[in-house]
Amino acid sequence: MSPSLTTAFLQQANRELATSLLYRALSYWADLRDYGGFTDLFDRQAEEEESHAKNFYAFLTDRDQAVTIGPFEAIAPVHADLLAVAKAVHAHERANTAAIHALYELAVSEKDYGTQVFLQTYIAEQVEEEAWTASLVERVSRSTCGGALYNLDRHIVKDLFGEK
Ligand SMILES: [Fe+2]
Ligand SMILES: [Fe+2]
Repeated sequence: MSPSLTTAFLQQANRELATSLLYRALSYWADLRDYGGFTDLFDRQAEEEESHAKNFYAFLTDRDQAVTIGPFEAIAPVHADLLAVAKAVHAHERANTAAIHALYELAVSEKDYGTQVFLQTYIAEQVEEEAWTASLVERVSRSTCGGALYNLDRHIVKDLFGEK
């Protein structure tokens, strides 16, 4: 792996872990406000993103590259309501898609085929991530009264992922 691709790849690995921390912070944001379903949803996403980060770091060691974890900034969510949270995670996932596409373009320009194949999984994953976060924004937008939000919170994991 070239030094520039290694640096960019490590940055993305750290971005995946930072995303995990973001979702964990949002799960506490939700827990503090007694949104039990959203707490579960964000915990679940925190774990999924941690598994992405692990796969990225492991790919680096497979390619004989050293791993530096972090640094990460403090995360203190200050969102006013669930709609603001939903919009923020959707924007975050869109930005992550752009970052993965840029990394893929670098791997293409360097003719690094192994990295390209690895990243294709995450290009497909981001389609899924943008879809559920867009759906989250829609569903929260439609829940305009307290009763609707209560029901949404109870069923959100099942609604989005068909399981609980
Ligand atoms: Fe991810
Ligand atoms: Fe996912």
